[in-house]
Amino acid sequence: MSKQSYFFANWKMYLDFDEANILANAIAAEHKKFPDHVKMAIFPNALSLYSAGQVLNDVGIAVGGQNVFWEDKGGYTGEISATMYKAAGCEYALVGHSERRHQFHETNHEVRQKMQAILEAGLTPVLCVGETKEERVAGKTDEVIETQLRSAFHELSWPAEKGLIVAYEPVWAIGTGEACDPNEAERLHALMKKMLNELAPGTLPILLYGGSVRPENVFDYLKQPDINGVLVGGAATKLESFMSILSNIK
Ligand code: PGA
Repeated sequence: MSKQSYFFANWKMYLDFDEANILANAIAAEHKKFPDHVKMAIFPNALSLYSAGQVLNDVGIAVGGQNVFWEDKGGYTGEISATMYKAAGCEYALVGHSERRHQFHETNHEVRQKMQAILEAGLTPVLCVGETKEERVAGKTDEVIETQLRSAFHELSWPAEKGLIVAYEPVWAIGTGEACDPNEAERLHALMKKMLNELAPGTLPILLYGGSVRPENVFDYLKQPDINGVLVGGAATKLESFMSILSNIK
């Protein structure tokens, strides 16, 4: 029997309202081909999330928000809270994605605040961590991941029964076509697993790899013992490659 695997798709800002809804419908139309052992979730842009989510939920695909604000309500122009995402039908929320950290200067402290809001709203976080090329070259990969994980859980006791997903996404591998060597990804997943044992005891976290995942390499990650699934950006924004990734999850 195949092991339970996770295929999470981050559509970022690649698709507009119509494109996101068209792709959601096209994916839903293929639902007879969905394997039972793969749990899927899609992160559409905030405007498409509700309509695309209704179509996707009907065929067993969950949806999530790409970014949440830590306050619940108030004068925060342009922001959307975790509780609002939850009310719109989300099960998950991405937090600390490297594009948020590096392009929008999101700090470890802000990531920690978002983790709390996600927990309180009853969503499951997909916490993203990963090093830049410069940090890797300087031999700081493990240290960066440890710091990002430690600060995300700083004075936050994660209830053992709550879901917890952590994605290792090296910044240099995202959207570049330069995927991380699967053995190196496994090494870092094992490190994360060990750390999470200490930071969020009893939670049995799900660990994902993200960064230039394609139909040709998806199974190289999934066959590693500590990698439970993948978080896919670009290759999940077209029906053909989305379905081709899915069919390669054995
Ligand atoms: P990519 O993005 O698959 O396009 O590299 C992954 C991600 O940012 O989650």
